[in-house]
Amino acid sequence: MPKSANSLIKGKYKGKDILTLDQFSIQDVKVLFKLVPKMASIAKKSTNSKILCGKVVTLIFYEPSSRTFSSFDAAVKRLGGQTVTMQDPLRVSSVAKGETLEDTVRVFEAYSDAIIMRHPQQGSLKVAADACEHIPVINAGDGIGEHPTQALLDMYTIYEKHKTLGNLTGLIAGDLLNGRTVHSLLRGLSLYPKNTIYLLSPRELKLNKSDFKLFKDRGLHLIEIDSEYDIPKNAHFWYWTRVQKERFKDLAIYEKVKNRYIVTEKIFNKYAGARTYLMHPLPRVGEIGIEIDSDPRALYLRSQVRNGMYIRMALLSLVLGKN
Ligand code: NCD
Repeated sequence: MPKSANSLIKGKYKGKDILTLDQFSIQDVKVLFKLVPKMASIAKKSTNSKILCGKVVTLIFYEPSSRTFSSFDAAVKRLGGQTVTMQDPLRVSSVAKGETLEDTVRVFEAYSDAIIMRHPQQGSLKVAADACEHIPVINAGDGIGEHPTQALLDMYTIYEKHKTLGNLTGLIAGDLLNGRTVHSLLRGLSLYPKNTIYLLSPRELKLNKSDFKLFKDRGLHLIEIDSEYDIPKNAHFWYWTRVQKERFKDLAIYEKVKNRYIVTEKIFNKYAGARTYLMHPLPRVGEIGIEIDSDPRALYLRSQVRNGMYIRMALLSLVLGKN
């Protein structure tokens, strides 16, 4: 049966491509979050669940990945499914011989029940999903575009601490121009009322103008700052990101802007409150000092990572599972 053309989730996850946070409503996010405790308890048991029993999921990653690749792989296996994996297809697969993205997708469609893909080009996951007629495609990062499952786990991590995703004051820092996790997270936060987000970045890495306008029009209160001294006190969360070296044509500019903003103990203690949680999608490359890691408010190597697998389990069980 061909896939439904309607990309909004609207309560029906089954069989849908997951390409952007724009597909989600508040209610859809709620349905997903409700499954997370169940997924956490499945993951903690030694016997695997049968939710994806008999399902094979293909993971094709054209760009490097540690967490997203492994947590999806683990999520499928925790739910009783199996994976076909290909990392670095440019080196190891027929892509090296010049095969098109469309052909690659159609081949893996014949082998599996869903495709999870990361690709360096923005928009390429839509191309892949369109080429794939019968099975769902999940975006694990498309260039500087989006990274929806990362945003869902980030939102869950905030929700777990503050019990709401509205009425929040947050700080998002780093590479707002090229950071796909930021683009998806802002889409997610723009679903909820009364959020104020401070955007801290070097001038060269500001959110692009059309995104800025889009999120403002959706009701996000965005405040651009370029100095640590303008960080609001007691925000609900700080979301730090890496300057995306691989997106720079001119590495001299990268060298100029990398690690412009570093979370030190001094800055964190001065501006963060007792319930200001520090997050980062990882990998970090120097922008959060390791002396912060032991602070209980630092979630990036704790719940944020664990929630990644749980959210992906929840999503896979909704899109693909027997329930
Ligand atoms: C991010 C990505 O790939 O966009 N990593 C991840 O998936 N956790 C962030 C990054 O690479 O900086």
